Amino acid sequence: MMNANRSWWNEETVAVITGGNKGIGFEVCKQFANLGFRVILTARDADRGQKALVALRNEGFQTVSFHQLDVSNKASVADFASWISQEHGHVDILVNNAGTNGVYVDELYVKENNMKLEDLLWSEQQSSKGFIVEYESAKACMETNYYGAKHVIRALLPLLRSSSRGARIINVGSLFGQLHNLRSSKLQQELADVDHLSDALIDQVLEMYLNDVKQKIWEDKGWPLKFPSYKMSKIALHAYTRLLATQLEKDVPKVFVNCVHPGFVRTDITSGMGNISAQEGAENIVRVALLPPNECPSGQLFLEKKVGQF
Ligand SMILES: NC(=O)c1ccc[n+]([C@@H]2O[C@H](COP(=O)([O-])OP(=O)(O)OC[C@H]3O[C@@H](n4cnc5c(N)ncnc54)[C@H](OP(=O)(O)O)[C@@H]3O)[C@@H](O)[C@H]2O)c1
Repeated sequence: MMNANRSWWNEETVAVITGGNKGIGFEVCKQFANLGFRVILTARDADRGQKALVALRNEGFQTVSFHQLDVSNKASVADFASWISQEHGHVDILVNNAGTNGVYVDELYVKENNMKLEDLLWSEQQSSKGFIVEYESAKACMETNYYGAKHVIRALLPLLRSSSRGARIINVGSLFGQLHNLRSSKLQQELADVDHLSDALIDQVLEMYLNDVKQKIWEDKGWPLKFPSYKMSKIALHAYTRLLATQLEKDVPKVFVNCVHPGFVRTDITSGMGNISAQEGAENIVRVALLPPNECPSGQLFLEKKVGQF
C-alpha cells in the first residue's frame, strides 16, 4: 500500500508534454525537470523543439529529451507512441497542452474603429465584430485542441495504464470552455449531462458548428460570438475529459484525468496579454498533476487552483 504522506512520483516518473517548445508547455517541462522527472518535451516543429531542449539542458536539466509530435497529424502521433513505448514502456503523466486560438483578427475593422487589439480581444462585449472565422482555421483549431488531445490520449492509453503509480492526464482547458459560453441552452444541457455524454455526441456538436461556419451562418446559431472555434474546441475537450473519467473509473491502478485552466497567461496565444506569467500558469498545471492519489479527483475542471464548474 502506498503511504499517503509519500509522494507518488519520483525520479523514475515519465512525463510527456505536448507543445513543449514555448509558453506554458515549456515551463511545465522545466518544472517537471526540476523534480528530476524523465521529461519528454514534444513539439510539432523539430527545430523549435530542439532549441527548447538545448535551452533546458543549458540550465542544467539533463533528464529532458525531445521527440517530434504534431498532435493534429495521426502518423506523427502513431510514430511518437511507438517510440515512447520502446524507449520507456510506460507513461506516468501526460499533459495535453498543445493549442491554437483559431482566430484571425480583422485588422481593417480594428484600424477603422481606432481600437486597440487588447480592447477587441478581451473586452466583455459579446460581439463577433472584428473576428474573422473561416472554415479552414476553425477545423484546424478542432484538429489540434480537441481531436489532437484525444488522439494522443488514445495512442498513449496502454502506456498510461502500464504506469504502476496511477497515471495522470491533464488536459489544458480554459474558462472559455465553460458551458455558459454557449448561447444555446439546449446544447448546454446536452453537454452537461455526463450520463449521456458520448464521443458521437461531441463529434456531432463540432460537426454542426463547422458546418455552420462553412455555410457562414454560425453567428445566427447558438455558438459563442467571440473566439467561437477556440471555445468550441475547449468545450469539447472538457466534455471528453468527463466522459473519459467515467470510462477509466474502474482501472486499477487508476488513471486520473482532469482539465486545468492555467489562468490568463502572458503567452503568444494571448498576444502577450494576461495577468500571470507562463511560469505561474505552469505551476497551476503541475500542482494538479502531482496531487497525492487520496486527494486527486478525476473528471474535474480546475480553474487555476480550485475545482470549478464545467
Ligand atoms: N495563455 C492563456 O491565457 C491560456 C488560458 C487558458 C488556456 N490556455 C491553453 O494553454 C495551452 C498552452 O498555450 P500557451 O498559452 O502556452 O500558448 P503558446 O505559447 O502559443 O503555446 C502553444 C503551444 O502549442 C503548440 N502547438 C500548436 N499546434 C500544435 C500541434 N498541432 N502539435 C503540437 N503542438 C502544437 C505550439 O507550437 P508552435 O510553437 O509550433 O506553434 C506551442 O508550443 C493551450 O492549450 C491554450 O489553449 C492558455
